[in-house]
Amino acid sequence: MKLIAANLKANLTPDSTNTYLKTLESTLKTKVLVFPNIASLKANTFINIELGTQDAYPVKNGAFTGTIGSEVLTSLSIKTLLLGHSEMRARGDSLIKEKFSFYKDLGYKIIFCIGEDSNILDKKGFLGTQLKDCDLDYENLVIAYEPIWAIGSGKSATLEDINSTYKMLKTLGAKKILYGGSVNETNGKDIYSITDGLLIGGFSLDPLKFASLANELDSISL
Ligand code: PGA
Repeated sequence: MKLIAANLKANLTPDSTNTYLKTLESTLKTKVLVFPNIASLKANTFINIELGTQDAYPVKNGAFTGTIGSEVLTSLSIKTLLLGHSEMRARGDSLIKEKFSFYKDLGYKIIFCIGEDSNILDKKGFLGTQLKDCDLDYENLVIAYEPIWAIGSGKSATLEDINSTYKMLKTLGAKKILYGGSVNETNGKDIYSITDGLLIGGFSLDPLKFASLANELDSISL
């Protein structure tokens, strides 16, 4: 089954996230994944929305300032982790492997982000190295391919590029692959049709537009 996910990044407050989720839930006719900021996480009680966390430390709880562990997530029934996003990697996330293995052992669905910047010449080698931090045979693993230059730039990769990277990642052993990077209502349908789904940032901040794209994609994939 294909997947549509919204990465809200450091946007919205706990209050405006509530409003966002209410609007989204009442407009959706299909299931989506939403990653609110950590301060706006709430109990996973929606029907069409599954909430996931943008980060978590590989511990249950304890003296780890500035993050959350599995105890908080379990209390909210959150079982999905976004991991390896380039915005986290750029700030020096050195625990990607440990986080993967800890949350894999707990059975979490892991959306594992990989992506190269435009100066990388050996794309296959670069992405292959990033994939080494996860277990490609893990049944709850979803790879999100997001070229760094395409994130938030308004310029997505071309369909040709996405298609060839998708096929290349399959040869490396990835089983389910999303695309992310400036996906919107104009390019979403075509990209969705050649991948296993979408990870959407900026465009997902409008719940009505995001829901309308998700509903449209769901209806064409039937
Ligand atoms: P964007 O972000 O859709 O705003 O490019 C995607 C992402 O960072 O996951």
